[in-house]
Amino acid sequence: MELVHAVADLKQLVERKKSEGLSVGFVPTMGALHEGHLSLVAEASKASGYVVVSIFVNPTQFNDKKDLERYPRNLGLDMELLKSTSCDLVFAPGVEEMYPVKDTRLFNFGSLETVMEGKHRPGHFNGVAQVVSKLFDMVQPDFAFFGEKDFQQLAIIKAMSRQLNLDVKIVPCKTVREPNGLAMSSRNQLLSDAQRESAALISETLFGAQEKMDKMPVAELKQWVMDTINKDENLEIEYFDIVNSDTLQSVNSWDEKVNKTGCIAVHCGRIRLIDNVTFSKNVDRSL
Ligand code: PAF
Repeated sequence: MELVHAVADLKQLVERKKSEGLSVGFVPTMGALHEGHLSLVAEASKASGYVVVSIFVNPTQFNDKKDLERYPRNLGLDMELLKSTSCDLVFAPGVEEMYPVKDTRLFNFGSLETVMEGKHRPGHFNGVAQVVSKLFDMVQPDFAFFGEKDFQQLAIIKAMSRQLNLDVKIVPCKTVREPNGLAMSSRNQLLSDAQRESAALISETLFGAQEKMDKMPVAELKQWVMDTINKDENLEIEYFDIVNSDTLQSVNSWDEKVNKTGCIAVHCGRIRLIDNVTFSKNVDRSL
């Protein structure tokens, strides 16, 4: 496994592998790697001959400076974890390398970005689109792997790839969970033991809501989820919505013939956690 920091070195290595006929699988990350990321690397290696992982804490997607400062960083530990996977190349650029000049591009994803994360984190998805489009341009992957935990991000990245006519197949990968059900996230390591225990209530409640599907109207179920989670003194819901899985717009009745996803954001102390579950007849708990 190799590590490069410069775009020129990345391009040279990837071009060489492509000329050898290998397909390129790409896993973009912000580091602080966990099993969720490692599962993306495993998926990447199933689909492609050469696996590239990027590690870059992208400042343009943080609408909260404190969140950016607090974001965990440990390249040494990340490299150790990746050594035990089938990752071939790690690209860990500095901010200057990624943004030699200010990125002034403004994307427009219409109603996909005005709800949920987009509504509560203004500018977040523009920053994600900026960095992912740059990374795609640098790595030129055949496949790129993203976790379903970031459900709205996945929709935005698919939309971006279509808008820019990119020739990269976006592969969604299942959310990996801790033994207590908490969706894996780099931010989990910032939780205290008590907060981690409380945070387990998020997925527990979402799975509980799946069971209640069809037994109560959508609006009532939404309220039940909010009340259940807000009862825990360590948790405060920012939003919970049940949305059309493709358009991300709110669903008001179980009768709507669309795939439905329940998406949630919860503050646990200073840490913001997100998660989601599918509301379909064949419930997939994927623990
Ligand atoms: O999901 C993430 O870790 C980030 O948003 C991504 C896709 C690596 C872009 O910085």
